[in-house]
Amino acid sequence: MIIIPGPASLELGEKIAEKIGVDAHTVDHRLFPDGESYIRLTVPVEGETAVVVQTTFPNPDRGMMQLFLMVRAAKDLGAGRVVCVVPYLAYSRQDKRFLDGEALSLDTVVTLLENAGGDELIVVDAHNEESLERLQEKTRLGMVNLSAMPLIAGHMRSLGFDGAYSLSPDEGAKHLADAAAEVLGGGSGFFEKTRHRATGEIEMVVRDLEIGGKDAVVFDDIISSGGTTAAAVRGLKKFGAHKVAAACTHGLFMGDAEERIREAGADLILSTDTVQTPLSRVTVASLVADHLKKAE
Ligand code: R5P
Repeated sequence: MIIIPGPASLELGEKIAEKIGVDAHTVDHRLFPDGESYIRLTVPVEGETAVVVQTTFPNPDRGMMQLFLMVRAAKDLGAGRVVCVVPYLAYSRQDKRFLDGEALSLDTVVTLLENAGGDELIVVDAHNEESLERLQEKTRLGMVNLSAMPLIAGHMRSLGFDGAYSLSPDEGAKHLADAAAEVLGGGSGFFEKTRHRATGEIEMVVRDLEIGGKDAVVFDDIISSGGTTAAAVRGLKKFGAHKVAAACTHGLFMGDAEERIREAGADLILSTDTVQTPLSRVTVASLVADHLKKAE
């Protein structure tokens, strides 16, 4: 197995290779003056399983294009199998047509990866697992969705959140809070969120929870503007939660997201390294490495 960390996942790719006990082979890459990406593989891949590790943030379009170039290069240089590890898969939120005429972004990305020569796509905490399952019926690209929630919750426990209540800010992320609650043991629930598509404004129906004096953690797949998590933290505080933390898998933390969440009352904010930021406190390297080792 040959691990090829892409330009957007150098650190994580190296860690995955180390956990598996093989070398990581980074690619040569640069940008041409007009903004095009250049990619060159630095290791022969003929007959091998090539594992390309490339997240798609902070620049989703460039990250995607580099991913397609790496996957295609590995395939046409003779790799027996090309595994695409895309810890944070951008474009996942546009997984259906919310308005007439909209592009099906997730569908498009999956089709392009398949056509580039990908054999398997591994993501961490897919935005909507059902969308991947639906696409699985249309593609020969094998889809694997790994969950970082047990790891994140384990980390929260080590920070003193054992027995804390696990909350997801909307029903779509309920499975994340449920998975975390299995580790933390303090029960789980969800609020109801509506986002107005035109203005981006969030409305949250905050249920009455019996959490007075208890610690609580908000779990979500993505924190982007921080609006969703901040509203959930505020709701928990309203019902008397003691310490409140905010945790997510993919911490995009756009603009003043961190500040918004802190101002809402969060004592702690953290994410994984599917997207590397100063708040990445949990690594998904062993999660991915264990899957790759098992599948070999
Ligand atoms: C939406 O369904 C996602 O699970 C997240 O809740 C959302 O992407 C977070 O976005 P923001 O931080 O901008 O509120």
